[in-house]
Amino acid sequence: MHRKTIPLIGAMLAALAAIGLAALVAWSQLSGGGSGARSGAPGKGEAVVAPGIDMGGPFELTDHTGRTVTEADFEGRFMLVYFGYSSCPDVCPTELSSMAAALDIVAETNAAAAKKVTPVFVTIDPARDTPEVLRDYAPAFHPRLIGLTGSPEAIDQAAKEYRVYYGKGQTIDDGFYLMNHSGYVYFMGPDGNFVTMFHGGTDPQVIAGAILRYIDGTPTS
Ligand code: NI
Repeated sequence: MHRKTIPLIGAMLAALAAIGLAALVAWSQLSGGGSGARSGAPGKGEAVVAPGIDMGGPFELTDHTGRTVTEADFEGRFMLVYFGYSSCPDVCPTELSSMAAALDIVAETNAAAAKKVTPVFVTIDPARDTPEVLRDYAPAFHPRLIGLTGSPEAIDQAAKEYRVYYGKGQTIDDGFYLMNHSGYVYFMGPDGNFVTMFHGGTDPQVIAGAILRYIDGTPTS
């Protein structure tokens, strides 16, 4: 009796493995299928995105040096993207520091990999975050951090593409106001496709580990 159950279990396991593989393939195809698309369940710190949901897209914004930039300027490079605002008292500075720390960890482990990643900060407060403001703000976190701003319409479009929620928040004193906004960190592939996104507050070590893993598994142009 024992001898008959073992082959049966073996066949069932093989069938389950085949189903599992098919599910993984379907997931990776649905989640973009580009070279940077992930091929399995998200790792620690990574947010689950329903298959078929598109993240990112074309944009035309102004960087902190006053130059007009589009998604084409980032072609061939990974992007680590965060949407926030420079007047943010705590969350944004913490998140941008984490991004910078993660990039430094990547650089210590694999300098070539770190060079492939461009950190980007997109303001959701274009009324206050002019290129001049971002010129001081962005590089203070990381020398390679690019600050992006634009017209309210252009910011709105970029935020929509990344499914970023934002809106004017509480007014404190003398007209100083806060902004409400979602706080994911997006990791985009060299083809502009979404790779993964991290929950706000994710440990820089975790972000760095994921970046290294994804870059390792992605052929870059
Ligand atoms: Ni903030």
